[in-house]
Amino acid sequence: MSTRAAGLCDVAVPPAHAPSAPATACQGRVARGALRLRPYEPADAGRVVQLVTDVLERLYPTGGEWLERKLRSFEREGARCTLAEVGSTLLGLTIETVKGLGRCKLSTIWVDEPARGRGIGTALLDSCLVGWRRELLNEAYVTVSLQVVGVVALLLVPKGFQLRALERDRYGAGRDEVVLAWSRAGQVASADRGWVNEQLGQIRSLPGA
Ligand SMILES: CC(C)(COP(=O)(O)OP(=O)(O)OC[C@H]1O[C@@H](n2cnc3c(N)ncnc32)[C@H](O)[C@@H]1OP(=O)(O)O)[C@@H](O)C(=O)NCCC(=O)NCCS
Repeated sequence: MSTRAAGLCDVAVPPAHAPSAPATACQGRVARGALRLRPYEPADAGRVVQLVTDVLERLYPTGGEWLERKLRSFEREGARCTLAEVGSTLLGLTIETVKGLGRCKLSTIWVDEPARGRGIGTALLDSCLVGWRRELLNEAYVTVSLQVVGVVALLLVPKGFQLRALERDRYGAGRDEVVLAWSRAGQVASADRGWVNEQLGQIRSLPGA
């Protein structure tokens, strides 16, 4: 499986181990001090696999293998994985893959279903943004399944991501993906609520979204 195909960006189904919880089950934002973001370490491999392998394998025949390969090669490939934990419970993660020429792919952003709507996705993305600005990255992009792009865009667009392309059948027949991109030059626009609403409107109006 290619790095592109293995991102969780087209996750439409929650992992089997995670009971689905409606948004109303959320208990407000995770308290500032309770949420800890930290870099992945090899000792975390088991918990990361447990969090996301079911989803990967449901989506891709070799998704589990891709993840295990990725976990072994972060440093070599210039990739970065950040974990979000409360206590010792792993609740979410990002995987970023350097693409060269000042570009990076947000290969994975995932928050465990019962923990969503509590600010964990925002904290993870903010952490990526801090790194991208520090590293003077020109562009970051993500591909998201058309089926889930509406909710994912609610997180990404206010942070400066904008609609780049709709790629029909990108990962197989009917597997349409939306490319959202962030650029250092364009990030100012996200402070403009009108711009954000316009972007969200464009994304919502994509046929099939
Ligand atoms: C997208 C995702 C990472 C968001 O994580 P999260 O922890 O729920 O995000 P947050 O709680 O920080 O919410 C982010 C913003 O989106 C909004 N939002 C999130 N889910 C929402 C929903 N179902 N309805 C309305 N708004 C929603 C929040 O209100 C928040 O906006 P605010 O800051 O103005 O309040 C998470 O839903 C997820 O993992 N989705 C599945 C995997 C996936 O598709 N990955 C992304 C593509 S690569």
